[in-house]
Amino acid sequence: MVVHVFDQASQVAEAAAAVFTAQLLEKPDSVLGLATGSTPVDTYAELIRLHEHGVLDFSRATSFNLDEYVGLPPSHPESYIAFMKRNLFDRINLKRSYLPNGMAGDLERECLNYEALIREAGGVDLQLLGIGNNGHIGFNEPGESFVFDTNLTALTPSTIHANRRFFDSEEQVPRQALSMGIGTILQARHILLLALGQGKAEVVKGMVEGSITPQVPASILRGHPRVTVLLDRAAASLLS
Ligand code: GLP
Repeated sequence: MVVHVFDQASQVAEAAAAVFTAQLLEKPDSVLGLATGSTPVDTYAELIRLHEHGVLDFSRATSFNLDEYVGLPPSHPESYIAFMKRNLFDRINLKRSYLPNGMAGDLERECLNYEALIREAGGVDLQLLGIGNNGHIGFNEPGESFVFDTNLTALTPSTIHANRRFFDSEEQVPRQALSMGIGTILQARHILLLALGQGKAEVVKGMVEGSITPQVPASILRGHPRVTVLLDRAAASLLS
């Protein structure tokens, strides 16, 4: 795990966009793993800017998002598909982008199909990740064991509470999601994790310096051969 600390959140976004740029210059038909949440929004803005300036061409790339809420239609502004369209897809020239379908009739089959699609695309080259306050990646919540396959997951009370800010009330936050599993994430050839702000300092310390445990799902990333962590000063403030 290589950890870089920047003074400003804006530098994290610029550095993350530089990693995407290098990836796409090297392999224009890359398979990109994408994430939602507040953290990657500025990175996506930077990717849009680079695309508009003619630096980044997504036309041969494919993307797979980490997760999607169960039961929120794509027309709902807080569905992850709507988030991705608003913050990235509508403004770049990516032609093939996939998210798990949280409205599928058979959610277990949907998980298997999603895994198969990623495999058929050749696997993820560069996976972008944020981290939940409780150490989750995608929607892989803390628990007794790591869940390796793409799965139907129940959001923990702390995640429901954290995501309440996007909805009118806590009751409206979906209770379930489909998420790439930990094993699926670990199969990515390069993992790029971003964390911003004091609120993430404790979980970042757990991920980087604590024990590898399913209680902090992101800690398992330490076993991956190529993980780049980009932090602002506040998120890095508890690292020794
Ligand atoms: C969500 C997403 C994660 C994301 C996390 C942190 O629940 N499923 O992929 O990393 O929360 O979000 P934020 O970046 O807003 O702190």
